[in-house]
Amino acid sequence: MNIAIEQNYQKLSDKITNEVLDIVKQKPEAVLCFPSGDTPLGLFNNLVSLQRNKKIDLSGCSFVGLDEWVGMDENDEGSCKYTLYRKLFIPCGIEKEKIHFFDAKAADLRLECERIDSIISALGGIDLMILGIGMNGHLGLNEPGTDAKLLSHVVSLDMVTRHVGQKYFHDPVRLESGITLGLGHIMQSRRVIAMVSGNHKSTIVKEVAEGEISNRVPASLLRNHPNASLCLDREAAMQILKNQ
Ligand code: PGA
Repeated sequence: MNIAIEQNYQKLSDKITNEVLDIVKQKPEAVLCFPSGDTPLGLFNNLVSLQRNKKIDLSGCSFVGLDEWVGMDENDEGSCKYTLYRKLFIPCGIEKEKIHFFDAKAADLRLECERIDSIISALGGIDLMILGIGMNGHLGLNEPGTDAKLLSHVVSLDMVTRHVGQKYFHDPVRLESGITLGLGHIMQSRRVIAMVSGNHKSTIVKEVAEGEISNRVPASLLRNHPNASLCLDREAAMQILKNQ
């Protein structure tokens, strides 16, 4: 896993935007997976303006949803779909048929996991997966202790995620379970970029970069991925820079 440190959040977003640009230029039908959350919003802004100015053409790409809170859909403010549709898919004019997202309201979530797994294999796997890292080191909703070989699955959320996740909602909500692509998908993606910003993440970043490689800190497993990068702004990198 290579580590890149950018001066600030905008530069971090720009760096990752350039990677998306390169991959889409090389492979206009690339399969892309983006996270929701606060971290990728700068990247989404960049992609929307590139798409509007015809500097990128995302119309041939397929998009796979990373995760969702069980029981929510795109109409629920704070859901992952809500963020991705409003901040990326709708402003970029992406056709519905190109978007493959969990239906976290499905009656049978196990079947929903199988549906998404089959779509990913039919698409030939994920070319580029961008990830955020949670305060507990999770990737998507792969919480500490998750089996590293799992594909899509339903999870009972970690207490940290239940608590931190409140920031996406106006009013307090009960966040109990999630549906997510698995660490197996992440490890099988051809390129993975984990994007982290802010000094509130600097402790978990240090663990991810320098601690034991273990599913207790799921993001540390990226160190075993052959083509993964951890991209940080200086604030997120603060604790790893201290020792240098
Ligand atoms: P954030 O979420 O981008 O809102 O910090 C990251 C995550 O929990 O994966």
